[in-house]
Amino acid sequence: MWDDLKAAADAGRDQSILGMFEADADRADAFSVTALDLLFDYSKTQIDANTRDVLLRLAQAADIEARRDAMFAGAKINETEGRAVLHTALRNLDGDPVMVDGQDVMPDVLDTLTRMETVATEVRGSGITDVVNIGIGGSDLGPAMAYLALAPYCDGPRCHFVSNVDAADIADTLRGCDPEKTLFIVASKTFTTIETMTNARTARAWLQDHGVSTDGRFIALSSNAAAASEWGIPSERVLGFEDWVGGRYSMWGPIGLSLMVAIGPDGFKAFLRGGQAMDLHFRSAALPENLPVLLALVGIWHNQGLGHATRAVLPYDNRLSRLPAYLQQLEMESNGKSVAMDGTSLTVNSGPVVWGEPGTNGQHAFYQLIHQGTRVVPCEFMVAAEGHEPDLRHHHELLIANCLAQSEALMRGRSLDEARAIMAKKGLTGDELERQARHRVFPGNRPSTTLMMPKLTPEVLGQIIALYEHRVFVEGVILGINSFDQWGVELGKELATSLGPLVSGDAPADGKDGSTQALLGYVKRYS
Ligand code: F6P
Repeated sequence: MWDDLKAAADAGRDQSILGMFEADADRADAFSVTALDLLFDYSKTQIDANTRDVLLRLAQAADIEARRDAMFAGAKINETEGRAVLHTALRNLDGDPVMVDGQDVMPDVLDTLTRMETVATEVRGSGITDVVNIGIGGSDLGPAMAYLALAPYCDGPRCHFVSNVDAADIADTLRGCDPEKTLFIVASKTFTTIETMTNARTARAWLQDHGVSTDGRFIALSSNAAAASEWGIPSERVLGFEDWVGGRYSMWGPIGLSLMVAIGPDGFKAFLRGGQAMDLHFRSAALPENLPVLLALVGIWHNQGLGHATRAVLPYDNRLSRLPAYLQQLEMESNGKSVAMDGTSLTVNSGPVVWGEPGTNGQHAFYQLIHQGTRVVPCEFMVAAEGHEPDLRHHHELLIANCLAQSEALMRGRSLDEARAIMAKKGLTGDELERQARHRVFPGNRPSTTLMMPKLTPEVLGQIIALYEHRVFVEGVILGINSFDQWGVELGKELATSLGPLVSGDAPADGKDGSTQALLGYVKRYS
C-alpha cells in the first residue's frame, strides 16, 4: 500500500494545482466536504481522483472502521498501557451505555458532569474573581486554548492558566490576583507531575503568606484522588476521571472545569454537543465523506507521501492563538513515534511537526518562508464566515480576504515573466530589471486546505477539537502506531529529577558528561 502512495506521489508531486482547476470546473466541489457546521476544502492540494483512491485504500487496508468501532466500544486499543480510549464517553450526553470491562461507565460520567455543573455554578456565584488552573500539557492546553477561543461567551470569573515550573509563570499570574477572592484548580491526572505540584505548593504558600485560610480554596481534577487527599484536598473537592481518558484528550471532562466556570454549564454542554456531533459523523459517514478521515489522508499525503515534514496551522481568528500549541501536543505527543504497535520500526515518517500562529500576524513574520523558502510547508487555514464584533464587520471582511489571499497566493505563485512585467512597470530595465525580478518570483503550486465555519461558537469549537482528535487517531491507525501513549516524555522527566540535586549543589556532578558538567559549573558561578 505504501508503494502505491509512493507511486502516486511520484506522479502527483509536480502536478499543477491551478492546472487541475482549469481542467475540472467542479474541482472545488469534488474535493471538499461539508459536514455539521464545517466546510473542509482540500481542492488546493495536488490530490486528484486517483490519489484520493490510493489514500482511501490505505485507510481501508488499515481497517479504520474496525479500529474506530473498537475504540468507541471500549476495547483496550491503548495496548502499551492496557487501557481503553474513551474520551468520547465524556461527551456522550445521551448516556447510551459505554462498556469497559463489562461495566457501563456512563452513570459515573454523567454524575461527574453534574458535579462539575454544581461546582461551576457555585464558583460563579461565590464572589471569586479569579480562578487559577494549575496544570501542564493536557491538563492545561485544552482549557487554556478554549478559554481564549470562547472569550465572547465568558461571563464568569477571570481564569488564568499556570503551567510552567518557571516561577515567572505563577508569580506574574498571582501579582494580579486578590488572595481573598482567588480559587485554585489543581489539574493533574496523575497528581504527581513535578511542575504542577511545585506550582500548587507555591499557590498554597501564597495564600498562607497573605493570612488566608486554604480551606475551600483548592479543587483537584485528577484520577488519583488518594494523592489529592494526601495533599490536603478532601474527596468532596476532587473531580475524578478514569485512566481511559488520556491527558491530551481530557478537556471534555473535569479538566474542562475552568472553561465551564468561565462560560457556564450551558456553554460547556454546547461544547460537548459539538464534540458528540463530530463523533456521530465520524462513526457514520462513508470514508470519502468523513471529515476526520479526509483530514488524516491529506496529512498522510503531504507527510508520508510527498515528504513535507511540517504542517502549519493558521487560524484566521485571533482567539485561536493557542490552538497551534494545543494541536502540537495532540498530534506530536500522539503520533511522534517510530515503533509500530507490533514492535517493528516504522518504514515511513512518523507524524508531522505541527506549528503555527493566527493570521494575519503570521503573514508579517514567517509567511516569507512559506511562500519563497526552499521547503514546502502544507498550510491549514481556518476562518469563520462571521466574527463576534458585528459593528466591526469591516475587520472581519479584511481577515477573510487575507485568509483567502494567502491560499490563492500559495497556489498561484508569480512567474518570472510576471515579475519582470512588474519591474518594467516600475521603470527598471536591463540587468537590474532581471536581477530584481528574480527576487519577486513565487514558485507557487504550494498546497493548502481551508476549514470554514459559520462562527466560532462553543458548539463549533467542540466540532473542531473532536475533528482533530479523530484525525490524529486515523493517522495513527494508518501508521500502525499507538496514538495514546507517550513514553517519549519519560526520559527527560527522569533525568530532570536526578539533576535537581546537582543544580542545587547538594550532589556532585561527577559521572555526568562534559557538557552537562560545564553547564552546571556556569550555573554555580552565577547563582
Ligand atoms: O509529560 C507528558 C504528560 O504526561 C502529558 O501527556 C500530560 O498531559 C501531562 O504530562 C500532564 O500530566 P498530568 O495531568 O498527570 O499532570
